[in-house]
Amino acid sequence: MRSNIFFKFIIFLCLFGCSKPQPAVRPYIIPIPNEFNMQEGVFILDKNVSFHSDIQLITTGNFFNNYIEETLGFKLIMHSIPNRNSIYFQYDESIVNEEGYELIVDTSQITIKAKTEKGAFYALQTFRQLLPVNIKNDQISIRNLTIKDAPRFVYRGMHLDVSRHMFSVDFIKKYIDMIAMLKMNTFHWHLTDDQGWRIEIKQYPELQKVAAFRDETLIGHYSDSPQQFDGEKYGGFYTQEEVKEIVKYASERYVTIIPEIEMPGHSQAAIAAYPNLGCTNKDTKVATKWGVFEDIYCPKEETFTFLENVLDEVIPLFPGKYIHIGGDEAPKTRWKDCKYCQELIKKEDLKDEHGLQSYFIARMEKYINSKGKHIIGWDEILEGGLAPNATVMSWRGTKGAVEAAKSGHTVVMTPTSHAYFDYYQSDNEDEPLAIGGFLPLKKVYNFNPIPEELTKEEAKYVLGVQGNIWTEYISTSEEVEYMAFPRAIAMAETAWSKSRQRDYQDFTYRLSHFHKRLDALNINYANHLYEIEGEVTTRNNQLVFDLQTIVRDKTIRYTVDESSPNMSSTEYKSYLPIENSTILKAAVFDDTKKLGRDFTLIFNKHKAVGTKITLDPKPHKAYPGSGKIGLINGVSGNDTRYGDKEWLGFWGKDVTITIEFDKPTKISSVSTRFYNANGQWVYAPKEIGVSYVNTEDGRTLHKIAQIQNNDATLIPFKLEIEEITTQHLEIHIKNYGIIPDGFQGAGNKAWTFLDEIIVK
Ligand code: ACM
Ligand code: ZN
Repeated sequence: MRSNIFFKFIIFLCLFGCSKPQPAVRPYIIPIPNEFNMQEGVFILDKNVSFHSDIQLITTGNFFNNYIEETLGFKLIMHSIPNRNSIYFQYDESIVNEEGYELIVDTSQITIKAKTEKGAFYALQTFRQLLPVNIKNDQISIRNLTIKDAPRFVYRGMHLDVSRHMFSVDFIKKYIDMIAMLKMNTFHWHLTDDQGWRIEIKQYPELQKVAAFRDETLIGHYSDSPQQFDGEKYGGFYTQEEVKEIVKYASERYVTIIPEIEMPGHSQAAIAAYPNLGCTNKDTKVATKWGVFEDIYCPKEETFTFLENVLDEVIPLFPGKYIHIGGDEAPKTRWKDCKYCQELIKKEDLKDEHGLQSYFIARMEKYINSKGKHIIGWDEILEGGLAPNATVMSWRGTKGAVEAAKSGHTVVMTPTSHAYFDYYQSDNEDEPLAIGGFLPLKKVYNFNPIPEELTKEEAKYVLGVQGNIWTEYISTSEEVEYMAFPRAIAMAETAWSKSRQRDYQDFTYRLSHFHKRLDALNINYANHLYEIEGEVTTRNNQLVFDLQTIVRDKTIRYTVDESSPNMSSTEYKSYLPIENSTILKAAVFDDTKKLGRDFTLIFNKHKAVGTKITLDPKPHKAYPGSGKIGLINGVSGNDTRYGDKEWLGFWGKDVTITIEFDKPTKISSVSTRFYNANGQWVYAPKEIGVSYVNTEDGRTLHKIAQIQNNDATLIPFKLEIEEITTQHLEIHIKNYGIIPDGFQGAGNKAWTFLDEIIVK
């Protein structure tokens, strides 16, 4: 316990005068507790304080004692009964929630009340945040207060993919520490995928020899043309001894590990080791790039035997209730061409290959249930009928969650739109290369995990939430931390705190203090708190620049001459009206210096700006951008990440946009851009129609333009027309349709993303 990172606050020894108590600081607790009251007075924590724990909480009590010694450098006096000037871990059966606790700081005593060791452990996580950061002192004063706390959700998780890139045992422990610190209780360990099998299975040595290694790895982005590879063998696996060590470490921190063994898809690495597991029996390689691969497990008896034998080794290693069986992104190409599979479909009276997927999952579920465990799977396990006792992890939006909850299955919410921390978190150009997408902290924080389609009763099937770290573009532990933090902190607050307490401004304020704790724990978090949120919008029918800081008590200064703002630049007080094309630059300052980086907003005036726009349908609720105004506000979206305020996303729907000019207007071109990120199911449309009414003769004209879909990320569209005068313009955008076989998300509806509609 002594040397773990969990307790390794970097300690600054004070030079002289250590005996003076530090002033009691206002605690900025994350996740925010349910009830929190400050009182007058302080408790002095020094070496005269004694310690007592009821026997029911003794493990956490001892943990606490070690923590005090590690952090403050002195030992508390053990006392057989609670007395004055003590810290008392009190067993309290009346606390309703198993994970709940009360923490009472009073001048004469600190009392931690809980019904379970776990509850006491969460009290300890809160207590850590009552102490000043970076201090080794023999006297600390802690403000008197009362906290009553319990989690909102029972499932509070973080995921980590170790197949695409692998991380050391030490880092996995640090990751578990970070999860526990945030009062999360689940680590979803994604152990197998096409690019590497990462858990030792003694019965199948080729998994260690072949499936655990790939010949080389894609470098740069998947969509780079040509794709580049590093030419270096990559891989490894966790031995069962290491897994045991990690599981023990996690259980001491009340973190349950859910191992994921993917099936039937994302299994190319296993098939490379044992080609008989596939439908073709042909040799294949462990994948060296990302995506969805067609070599999936063939539902033959020998495959089931293999998977059952694998699970026979996996299950005893993990004491938790769940085994994750994947289930996502399994292309059915091989099954369609496989005689055995087709005969099985007939024999089992299945509808099609989706029925076969359902058969596969249900059969594995039965086996796993027979070992006393439950399955959890990605929402594709709903395809062709859900296995009877399964829990669904809803990742493709929230539809899977709704379907599962309505049919009485429990669900974990982890939609790409709010929980995929491999997406960009800032639109700065120098962010580390990411898969794409845009998921800033605020969006994570504002995630509502209960889909509105659910009744109160059905909502009870939502067990909780999870943030995911897929590591295609994340090769080091520092990068994992950068992508996870602070978004995991926002997710933790969603998971723990009551919805009524949610306030983003207050959260960022607490987070800015929490940064010091993250520094002390040597966590490489991303800090975008001193950036500006800005947009062009309308106020009282006037177009304005609207700028905001994320944290309170800071000043914005700006320029409109393209120079970088400095301390003498104009202070932004309120909306700035705009008339003409402008490049605005702004930054956040405190009283003495610039804090963040420069923010640039380019306003490009064109003829649709300030017109009346209607949009049918509305954008998808996960990607609303700044609404329909965002299409005609003179601002284009980010070139490398959709999902900002300027990109509007529509899922599987055709879109009609109507623009009405307040007077007859001469126009000669209509242009826009479509985002194209096929890996994330985003496809430019194939066809666009534009109609306009010629004011002179009242005729309606239609033009249809085809768009060549290519590999570029941005697909521009421009329709040049002979100059006409019109007051009414309609744009019809046809959704790409169903994603074809062989592509990521095959069989699902494609997304359409567009930004500014520029009319000239
Ligand atoms: C997933 O992101 N394929 C679950
Ligand atoms: Zn087959």
